[in-house]
Amino acid sequence: MIENAYDWEHLPHVHSSSFKSIELFDEGAWGWQAKVILPDSRAQHLELLVDRDNNYWATTVLSGDARGFEIHTHATERKSREIDVLVKFYLPQAFSKILKLLNVSQRLLPFSLYKRFARKLGVYKVAKNEKPKISILKTLQRQYSVLYDEDEILMSSRQDAIDHRKESKLNDAPHSLVLGTPEQLNQQLPKVVQFGKQRFVINQWPDEWRVYAAECPHLLGPLENAQIDQNGQITCPWHGYKFDINTGKSCEKQTLFLAKPPSLKLLDGHLCLVSAASDSSHQN
Ligand code: FES
Ligand SMILES: [Fe+2]
Repeated sequence: MIENAYDWEHLPHVHSSSFKSIELFDEGAWGWQAKVILPDSRAQHLELLVDRDNNYWATTVLSGDARGFEIHTHATERKSREIDVLVKFYLPQAFSKILKLLNVSQRLLPFSLYKRFARKLGVYKVAKNEKPKISILKTLQRQYSVLYDEDEILMSSRQDAIDHRKESKLNDAPHSLVLGTPEQLNQQLPKVVQFGKQRFVINQWPDEWRVYAAECPHLLGPLENAQIDQNGQITCPWHGYKFDINTGKSCEKQTLFLAKPPSLKLLDGHLCLVSAASDSSHQN
């Protein structure tokens, strides 16, 4: 979870319904500061502070709407692979004035005017017959559960990918693997196959067979369902890095490459994956 908290880069990709973009100002073991653009184009300056030893981290809105709001998270390990997570929302002191104004206006104004007034004060969701403080808390809880569910999918897929890597370290790459006839394979695209220690995607682009790694070399993001764009590039859903499926090269980070794929050959009417080593010995 702490790794996920440090990971500012995933916000607009994994949480695209909550963040449009992010620009990092600074980061370190202490946390990070960044400007985020929300889906309705409002901007916020966020700061994350991490107390790693105590598995505690706090996010504060430093400027923009909701300035002074804080979310504190504390994770405690129960047993292996089980943690308790305590989340606390803090409203800024200055907000108590706004709450008072909202309380009064809720009693005096018709609901439609009260809603407009609340918006002017930067409170975007209020419910009829509900105390403004409760409406705000419910909105925060709703937003946080969306973020949390999206993160849970990322974190558990990453853990699965790490576990899978450990297990497959024992597997040596086979010399070749028969996949089936082109017609059979065509029905199953994109097809993911395990070949030695790695998983690869078999696909067609634009109308030729392609093989490329099913895992992103950055943090093991899933690439099997990434669409191939008109430039022959796929985009990782976790942090948005693009990779050229022909060269395996990352378009953002020069040092990142997709795992080298085996060759795809048509042998006796069947498509086969052939390891690079046996492919070159075959040619010699
Ligand atoms: S896991 Fe980060 S870009 Fe793929
Ligand atoms: Fe997240």
